[in-house]
Amino acid sequence: MLDKIEQLKTKVNTYTIQSKEDLENYRLQFLSKKGEITTLFDEFKTITGDQKKEIGKALNILRQTAEGIYNTNKESFGDNQQSQSNTIDLTLPLQAFTTGSQHPISLVKNSILDIFESIGFTVENGPEVEDDWHNFSALNFPENHPARDMQDTFFINTEPKGNWALRTHTSSVQVRLMENQKPPIRALMPGRVYRNEAVSSRSNCFFHQIEGLYIDEKVSFADLKQTLYYFVSQFFGEREIRFRPSYFPFTEPSAEMDIFLGTETEQDKRLTKGTGWLEILGCGMVDPNVLKNCGIDPEKYSGFAFGMGIDRITMLKYGIKDIRQMFENDIRFLEQF
Ligand code: PHE
Repeated sequence: MLDKIEQLKTKVNTYTIQSKEDLENYRLQFLSKKGEITTLFDEFKTITGDQKKEIGKALNILRQTAEGIYNTNKESFGDNQQSQSNTIDLTLPLQAFTTGSQHPISLVKNSILDIFESIGFTVENGPEVEDDWHNFSALNFPENHPARDMQDTFFINTEPKGNWALRTHTSSVQVRLMENQKPPIRALMPGRVYRNEAVSSRSNCFFHQIEGLYIDEKVSFADLKQTLYYFVSQFFGEREIRFRPSYFPFTEPSAEMDIFLGTETEQDKRLTKGTGWLEILGCGMVDPNVLKNCGIDPEKYSGFAFGMGIDRITMLKYGIKDIRQMFENDIRFLEQF
């Protein structure tokens, strides 16, 4: 009997287990009800005499060894989920982090800000919900004046009626700045503005502007022209520019500035309606009355202001055909920039 146990021990120890099937076969051969070890235990029951103790001990050791081998291999080949998740494969590649990208409007906005910051302009922000004074009255839009129709917006239901609205331009930030700072003032005001417009591929009920303001002693129209010319040369490259007389309630004189794109490509022809010239911003000398409204002495100081739409320039720069695409938050669109 002791010999049998010894032989079986060798068999158990040299059995190769390399798969789930091997493991099951091992169990059947040695540990199941009809397995070789169990059979030995049945045989053991019939034994009497001196050797019984010694044989019993050897049998128990054999069974423990066999079960030990079975349990160790079960961790590698068994269905035991827990033991599987415990194995960490350190050679697997890392999962890449997904990061966002800058919105095309932010890209264009930042490059415009960079150009003006390099010539000493600061960047200022203000509220998008604005009161009548900062959005209209301080800027020479009298109540009930038709000039307000050009900038119809969304009013907020408060008392007195019509006093609070979504700002129609960032000129309201210019007013806040002039009220709170002494000249010289050299600042840019980027931000989102709102107008009550029919939504189409070319216009939306909100868009983004950058306005600029420069107030100091002896600021003239020549400074305005030179500053904007510098901006165009940095942003669009060397281009001809021209100024056409225009009207804004808060500047006098006022002008629209165009840049010359030419008519060589189909796109330029379309954008410039065949003239070669593209309007990109409105500008003018700050009306003395506006300076007075904001507590600045118009006898001592003068200044210029300008304002441009970032959305249009962004569409031009990247060839985006529908303004609405920029605000749908579709990753497939945004990823391209
Ligand atoms: N605020 C004007 C607009 O939104 C733009 C502008 C700004 C024009 C400053 C002249 C000077 O239409």
